[in-house]
Formats: sequence, structure tokens, C-alpha cells
Amino acid sequence: MFPRHAFLASARRLSTQPLPHPSPPPAVTIIEVGPRDGLQSEQAYVPPLLKLNLISMLAEAGHTRIEVTSFVSPKWIPQFKDANEVMAALPAESPVEFSVLTPNLKGVEAALSHSATDVASVFGAASEAFSQKNINCSIDESIERFRKVVEYATEKGKPVRGYISCIAGCPFQGAVDPNDVVRVYAKMREMGIEEVSLGDTVGVGTPTQISQILRALIALDGSAEHIALHCHDTYGSSLANILRGLDHGVTKIDASVAGLGGCPYAGGGATGNVATEDVVYMLHGMGVQTGLDLERLAWAGREVTEFLGIQTRSKAGLALWKKMVKEGRVREDGHPDFVRSATAPRGVATGAV
Ligand code: HMG
Ligand code: MG
Repeated sequence: MFPRHAFLASARRLSTQPLPHPSPPPAVTIIEVGPRDGLQSEQAYVPPLLKLNLISMLAEAGHTRIEVTSFVSPKWIPQFKDANEVMAALPAESPVEFSVLTPNLKGVEAALSHSATDVASVFGAASEAFSQKNINCSIDESIERFRKVVEYATEKGKPVRGYISCIAGCPFQGAVDPNDVVRVYAKMREMGIEEVSLGDTVGVGTPTQISQILRALIALDGSAEHIALHCHDTYGSSLANILRGLDHGVTKIDASVAGLGGCPYAGGGATGNVATEDVVYMLHGMGVQTGLDLERLAWAGREVTEFLGIQTRSKAGLALWKKMVKEGRVREDGHPDFVRSATAPRGVATGAV
């Protein structure tokens, strides 16, 4: 196993170096993963119409990139047994880019049979143990599977996104060597994957680790242009980690409405993704544009958590909602003032997607 003291020593050395982008970027793109990562571990099955409604509300809030479902085995993730139904109902032409998870050739063939699918996403790991638990194969085997997915998608003229899970630690093997992140990243980029999302799957990372990993990847790839950050918030460091990502030039951030999410194959140690509302609140307060409407996000988060019968995990979402109630901006029917009426057709019917 990679010696943690060696990592800490080199991380301390690296953390004394100046950050390359000390002021925030003018704009950041948020990739909304709520309908996929957010729902995949929920016990309650969310029927397709409600999934489509959530996707539509997120589009109405201004999202231009939404990860909508997974073409995985329904035995592994029952929530997405309706992936075909959801994709068939989404429009082929849309201002919103729809991405889906595709672990193998079978997944990408099914995903790209729908004209609404814009991006196929493969998901690997920097941890051997996690790769086995999550996708039932070794890292090397997964790379060969991904190559086939990329070849197929490229033939169909569609881009592929790549995820690397467990960049900062693994629930099964413990510490993860940053060199293993670099190795998988290099393989993904070599096979033609344009965007690689770095997953702190169990939310154990800290800004120092994020810096070390980003410095290594940027040294390899020239810039952070092809990198996105995907932070889970188990230990509460996700916003700090994102901020550190911005310092290194990352401008693509994955987030999930209401802070829903977590990988069911992460040994139960992973809580939600960083909440979209929290990221957007922080970025707007820093003068960074996202194109998103925070109140509409809070409303979408409220709708989905009410259906699931759980509390939102977004601090900003909760605070904003309380403020709207206090200001008398939530009507008796429980809808905010910007929603026309309780029965107003929302979602797919509004054509927002
Ligand atoms: P396997 O059992 O090794 O695959 O699963 P197999 O090829 O031996 O096939 C077994 C059965 O699965 C067969 O069906 C196949 O047809 C079927 P049967 O003959 O038994 O009826 N199958 C499929 N069905 C639908 N779609 C497919 C597919 N492929 C095979 N694409 C497999 C391998 C990868 C499929 C499985 O392990 C799987 O589905 N894993 C998914 C795990 C998952 O979705 N995890 C959560 C997402 S990852 C995540 O959350 C992390 C992320 O957010 C980033 C981060 O936070 O770090 C992305
Ligand atoms: Mg995740």
C-alpha cells in the first residue's frame, strides 16, 4: 500500500508552492448529476415521469449539462431499470446536453440507440479494490472495456466522459496512490476521452490532496481544461476541495441537487454529492457566473426530497427555502411564487428540456 507518510511529506512540500490561479474564474459549468448519482442509492423507486419532471425542473433552473440515467445492469442498480423509457421520452434536439453512464459495450449500444443521448460516460477507479466491487473487473480490464465504448461512441459521433473514482481514498483499500490516478487519467486521455471527472467517491479528500493530484495531472496534460471535479461530502470538505480546484484552473464541477447521491458499492461510507445549491451559492457570492437560478434549484431539491421522504442535504437550499417562507413567497399550496399554480404543467410539458 502507498505509504501515507510519504504522501503527506510530498503534499506539504507541494502545498507551499503558489497556486496557479489565485483569483476565481469568471464562470464555471456545473454538471448536474442528481438524476443519476443522486437517485442511484435511493431505496424508493422513482418512476420515469417523476425522473423526467426532475430533469425538466433542473433544466428550467438553467442547467445545460445533466447526467440523467445509467445503462447498467438492473440487477446491480434497480433504480435505472427504466433507463430506456427515460431516454426515449427526452427530446433529441435540446439546449441541454444529456449524459448517461455506460460501463461497457452493451451499455453504450443501448444508450446511443436513443437520439437524446449526447454523451456516454465510462466509470473506472484509481483503486483496484473499488473497481472490482463497482464494475466487477480489474482496472486493466476496465480500460479495455472503456476502449470499446469509446470506439463505438466515436463511430456514432458522440463524445465519451470518463470518471475516475476514489482519487483521494478508497473504502476498501484505504490510501490511494496519486500515481494510480495519473495512470488511469493518462489511459483515458490517450483513448480519446475529452473530459475526465475526478471522483472523491467517499468524500475523504482534503484540499492538500486535491492540489497534489491536480498538479500531477496538469503537469501531464498541460492544463486543467480536460478535468472536472466530482466531490462527495462525507467529511464536509467538498466546497473547500472545489475551491482548491478553481485555484488550479478547473472550471467544470459536478454537483447534485439537494446533495443527493452516493455509490451503493462504496461500502456504505459515502454520503451525498456536494449539493448544487451550496456550490452555486458559494460561486455566485464570489462573483462567478453559473447561469443557474438558485431559487429554482432549491425548489427542485425540495420537490425531489419530498417525494423521497427525506431532508435536503443542502444547507443553502434549506436556508433559502426558509427565507422564502419568511418573506411570504411560498403560497399555501406549498409552491413558490414563481410557479404559476399548483396544477401548472411543469416538466417535460413546458418544453424546458
Ligand atoms: P457483470 O455481472 O460483471 O457483467 O457486471 P456480465 O457481462 O457478466 O453480465 C451479467 C449480466 O448483466 C448479464 O445479464 C448481462 O446481460 C447484464 P443476465 O444474462 O445475467 O441476465 N449486463 C447489463 N445489463 C444492462 N446494461 C449493461 C449490462 N452489462 C451487462 N450495460 C457491470 C458488469 C458493469 C454491468 C455491473 O458491474 C454493473 O452494472 N455495475 C454498475 C455499478 C454502478 O452503476 N455503480 C454506480 C455508478 S459509479 C459511481 O457512482 C461513481 C461516480 O459517481 C464517480 C464517483 O463518485 O467517484 C461515477
Ligand atoms: Mg459519485
